[in-house]
Amino acid sequence: MTDETIGQLDRLKHTIGSRFETRNPLRANAETTDMTAEAGQSDVAVSESEETQPTSSGSAEMSASDRPLGTPRVDDAVIEARDLDVFYGDTQALNEINMDIPEQGVTALIGPSGCGKSTFLRSINRMNDLIDVARVEGDLYFHGKNIYDKDVDPVALRRKIGMVFQKPNPFPKSIFDNVAYGLRVQGKDDDVEEKVHQALERAALIDEVEDQLDSSGLDLSGGQQQRLCIARAIATDPEVVLMDEPASALDPVATSKIEDLVEELAEEYTVVIVTHNMQQAARISDKTAVFLTGGHLVEFDDTNKIFENPQSDRVEDYITGKFG
Ligand SMILES: Nc1ncnc2c1ncn2[C@@H]1O[C@H](COP(=O)(O)OP(=O)(O)OP(=O)(O)O)[C@@H](O)[C@H]1O
Ligand SMILES: [Mg+2]
Repeated sequence: MTDETIGQLDRLKHTIGSRFETRNPLRANAETTDMTAEAGQSDVAVSESEETQPTSSGSAEMSASDRPLGTPRVDDAVIEARDLDVFYGDTQALNEINMDIPEQGVTALIGPSGCGKSTFLRSINRMNDLIDVARVEGDLYFHGKNIYDKDVDPVALRRKIGMVFQKPNPFPKSIFDNVAYGLRVQGKDDDVEEKVHQALERAALIDEVEDQLDSSGLDLSGGQQQRLCIARAIATDPEVVLMDEPASALDPVATSKIEDLVEELAEEYTVVIVTHNMQQAARISDKTAVFLTGGHLVEFDDTNKIFENPQSDRVEDYITGKFG
């Protein structure tokens, strides 16, 4: 390793050290989730049915040859990918992905442009269904239920697994109506006002917008718009929040607010975040998955292991900025 590389690793270790000292313990129990077509229609989102019992020991084995380096299995998995492939027409964007995402906390997905991070994120709540040429093979379990089974309703699934995109995309509606939107669509319109306030509070936006809830969401700054989108995503109380580079278009102050928010949310939700910012991944995540070219997941482990002592030379080269 060059001196420069060692310096970079030392700086990352320092960041990680302080982060891991301050991290809050994760909540132990989770409700089981029903996302079948029936649940989608009747909007009964939570059940204790046998079919959807969490399978902490893993829904499917991961054969040694298919595993990425590191420790891709966790005891408290809420999401489990097994031999997951995604194709866009003839192009293979993800190649035999095997990994678990633990309940609560933050899992970061990192890797160079085009390696399939957004594709993987979208496969978790079946957003790839909306892309005509996309095809998914393999298995992806949410609380032990394969979300690609025929009886899973993607709309019900997306109520449990919300998403925030890179570019803030508020609806051309008032701030209040943006946050209330999902609640109203789901018919959860009792106590809307209280729920909207709570979501804006959890998204650390309430102080800035309390007196202008009737103004358009589009009149907010970029960072405020992104927090509004996060408020919208959490208003309906999902279990998992997927975030695709949520701070990449923001200035350092707004970025830092989003990072604080992600850490707060992770006490309650499972957060999966794509980022190109190594320091950000090191600061805010508990687990890190490193994807490299060709849609391969090369290594998955505790964030401190990935940044302090990765097993793969290619991963070390990537996180120290030698390529990508
Ligand atoms: N809608 C699509 N149609 C066809 N090909 C696509 C589509 N979306 C992504 N791809 C291809 O799939 C591969 C993975 O893309 P993806 O967007 O998942 O990468 P990424 O890791 O998120 O990249 P970035 O860091 O630039 O956002 C790329 O080769 C990309 O060109
Ligand atoms: Mg992307």
